Amino acid sequence: MRDWPCETWTRDLSLALPGIQVQVLPEVDSSNSELMRRARAGDLRPQLLVALTQTAGRGRMGRSWLSSPGDALTFSLGLPLHLNDWSGLSLAVGVSVTQSLHPEIQLKWPNDLWWQQRKLAGILVETANVGPQRYAVIGIGINLKARDARHLSTSPAWLQEALPGIEGPQTLGRVLLPLVQTLLQFEREGFAAFREGFNARDGLRERAVTLSDGTHGTARGVNECGALLVHTAAGVQAITSSEVSVRPLP
Ligand code: BTN
Repeated sequence: MRDWPCETWTRDLSLALPGIQVQVLPEVDSSNSELMRRARAGDLRPQLLVALTQTAGRGRMGRSWLSSPGDALTFSLGLPLHLNDWSGLSLAVGVSVTQSLHPEIQLKWPNDLWWQQRKLAGILVETANVGPQRYAVIGIGINLKARDARHLSTSPAWLQEALPGIEGPQTLGRVLLPLVQTLLQFEREGFAAFREGFNARDGLRERAVTLSDGTHGTARGVNECGALLVHTAAGVQAITSSEVSVRPLP
């Protein structure tokens, strides 16, 4: 636990997020689940929760997120957000994390981080309505070291390929403040402020893709709401993540 400079982070973040609590837990089912439970129980403080081990880490679309202690950085940031339009929030988070880590890391819509066409990190954004407030939990899992990929359909990437020797505390230290700034900027300006940044890192751009409904097309960046634009035989489709998933053709 000594390696995690919680007091420094509390001090650095509390200018932007007064009252923030920073915690590193040796084990929890899922850092997202824990912050969602706290929010539903009425604790709406901004909180950063790092999990050294997750026993039931969760991914998007009901999938699980598996990682071994030390091989991945797994954390969640929870905070009340006042937004009229939530579309594109998770994409903006992806842009921020990508920019903080390495110039060659790309985004695979909607919000996977890619290193050399392999998944390096994933983002799970969840929200809880508590009275009139809406509390957002931004969960991020970043592979740090080579991992056993036997149970995965595609082989993952890990951050030490791009940044040899980097460990969890250093990784979080790079990502944290820009992430908080991104969330506050999103609150003021919405996704419009991040569209260009997404398109600059878009790993699907101009690639042939297949949508989960079987449609084929070519990916052409995202629109002002963060929907993926796909040119298909039937014209341009704006895909939102709730509708379909997208897979690049090899
Ligand atoms: C995905 O790729 O589908 C999203 C993966 C998100 C994983 C992170 S790890 C920290 C936080 N806690 C969880 O249970 N999930 C997120």
